[in-house]
Amino acid sequence: MGEPTQPRQRILSGMRPTGRLHLGNLVGALWNWRMLQDTYDCFFMIADYHALMSDYEKPAGIAPSAREVLIDFISCGLDPERSVIFRQSDVPEHAELHLILSCYTPISWLERNPTYKEQLQQLTAKDIRNYAFLGYPVLQASDIVIYKANLVPVGEDQLPHLELTREVVRRFNALVGREVLVEPQAKLTASPRLLGTDRRKMSKSYGNQIDVADDPDTIRKKVMSMITDPLRIRRGDPGHPEDCNVCQYFKIFCPADQETVTDKCRHAKWGCTDCKKYLAEILIAFLAEPRDKRAELEAHPERLKEILADGAGKAQAVARATLEEVKGLTGLGQMFND
Ligand code: TRP
Ligand code: SF4
Repeated sequence: MGEPTQPRQRILSGMRPTGRLHLGNLVGALWNWRMLQDTYDCFFMIADYHALMSDYEKPAGIAPSAREVLIDFISCGLDPERSVIFRQSDVPEHAELHLILSCYTPISWLERNPTYKEQLQQLTAKDIRNYAFLGYPVLQASDIVIYKANLVPVGEDQLPHLELTREVVRRFNALVGREVLVEPQAKLTASPRLLGTDRRKMSKSYGNQIDVADDPDTIRKKVMSMITDPLRIRRGDPGHPEDCNVCQYFKIFCPADQETVTDKCRHAKWGCTDCKKYLAEILIAFLAEPRDKRAELEAHPERLKEILADGAGKAQAVARATLEEVKGLTGLGQMFND
């Protein structure tokens, strides 16, 4: 007989479907999510309502992107047998709770949100001065609290949203007089920083990303275009691997090779072209497994449908229970005692 098992803590996280996932998503989120499955009950969501909030003018890409993200999730090791993997809009309870929680959210809390202010300035290509986008974090709060998640693995840019979630939870619980909603904690994980091929943050909007699903030739082309140590101009110049993005990739994707690479670079035993050719082959080998899994899933769309339906069912069962509880406390519950 083992120890009595404690109920596992619950995790929820999500990504907006904006296209295929790149190595930055892999290193910054998916590796971590994959590991968390061993210790927690995990819910992983494709946040398509959130995508619509900013992409409503051109929504045709959302559903295909959601499909790509689903495939990337699974081919990178999220396990539909152990975790609930679902699409937000398949569980409309999120939207209903969003409306209820929006009653408990002062507009001033949303207007002072630093992420919102930053996006208004930066996302100039899209008109995000709509009502929904202001309430983006309220939907995010609903995503989290509808599963009574204890922990939310997110990057630092999402911390204001987590803080708002906590504030809404406290306000709601105080006003209904019961600790019905759970105050979640952000789970920050130190992950290595992976820059794009041009040394800026890896992002589709810069076009400097390497996708998890890129084919070998595309990977070779992208790796060969990577900017290296700017001080190493001639083949004979000693390099500075610590200042080279290529070396950082070795550190992350093939730590066993890092010493050799560093040595060859410092002592000009090979040129940057040799080094990058070698890195390309490492990445190609590294991404072989996700590539194979993706091919398999693409050949069996019925399997994808099944995973999505199963995830939606499991998520909805939990979401519905919380929503009923909340409605009962807000005057929206049953009218008759039958
Ligand atoms: N806002 C998150 C992002 O841009 C995506 C997201 C939506 C999310 N709902 C969530 C993340 C709930 C964590 C928990 O990446
Ligand atoms: Fe970078 Fe490799 Fe060139 Fe050194 S040899 S500067 S690590 S690409």
